[in-house]
Amino acid sequence: MGIFKKKQNYSIENIVMPEHVAIIMDGNGRWAKKRGLPRSAGHSAGAKNFRKIIRYCSDIGIKYLTMYAFSTENWKRPEDEVGALMKLFKQYLEEALRDFKDDTIKLQFIGDTTAFSEEIQSLMKDAVEGSRNRDGMVLNLAMNYGGRSEIVMAAKKLAEKAAKGELSANDITEKMISDSIYTAGQPDPDLIIRPSGEYRTSNFLLWQSAYSEYVIMDKLWPDFSTDDMNFALLEYAKRNRRFGGV
Ligand code: IPE
Ligand code: IPE
Ligand code: MG
Repeated sequence: MGIFKKKQNYSIENIVMPEHVAIIMDGNGRWAKKRGLPRSAGHSAGAKNFRKIIRYCSDIGIKYLTMYAFSTENWKRPEDEVGALMKLFKQYLEEALRDFKDDTIKLQFIGDTTAFSEEIQSLMKDAVEGSRNRDGMVLNLAMNYGGRSEIVMAAKKLAEKAAKGELSANDITEKMISDSIYTAGQPDPDLIIRPSGEYRTSNFLLWQSAYSEYVIMDKLWPDFSTDDMNFALLEYAKRNRRFGGV
């Protein structure tokens, strides 16, 4: 992992592109604090940037984009902050349903969505249904997502099959686990970007990231630009992925 400061104008012409990019949208709180604003203002700015970056990724031909929006641990935050985040999710979902009729992005959620209000769950369901037949970029929005709880979910599914006699415990394979998690059927992320300079996974894509390339950037999420995205893509293109080989 390396930490990088912003430089200007990166061209991504003719580079090796990742098929699946995942981003930990971190640093909203610090962005707000630096400006003497409440944390919720940082989340609003982050939500605005989310719209810009997903559009950009779709435009440059990324096939799968996973965005970490809310972790299973984020419920620990003060009630007013969680409330502000829920309001922003609701706004985004309503906007997606109202304005994005001609969009090509296929929206999916990863995480335990049953924890959200009935209203948000219903909007999530409609947004997923409404984009089901699209053939553009797949956007996995990680909401109430935790890598550990996802692995527990897979363990439960396989244990249930074993209890019914449909599967012998000894026959469990890595593929069966990959097929039992939220990202079933998708390629693992090639590149994981963490803005805000923190060197940790924070429970993101634990199973899927076994061989992902990490790019950590010293930029807070609301300030993360399309040029920063290009920088991360160029950094990825320079990596020598060996997958344990030589
Ligand atoms: C990420 O920004 C947004 C969520 C976790 C929902 P933070 O709110 O974690 O911002 P920092 O890390 O406190 O700056
Ligand atoms: C990870 O960021 C979760 C999201 C960005 C949604 P956190 O801010 O929650 O992670 P920690 O607490 O710094 O590890
Ligand atoms: Mg954070």
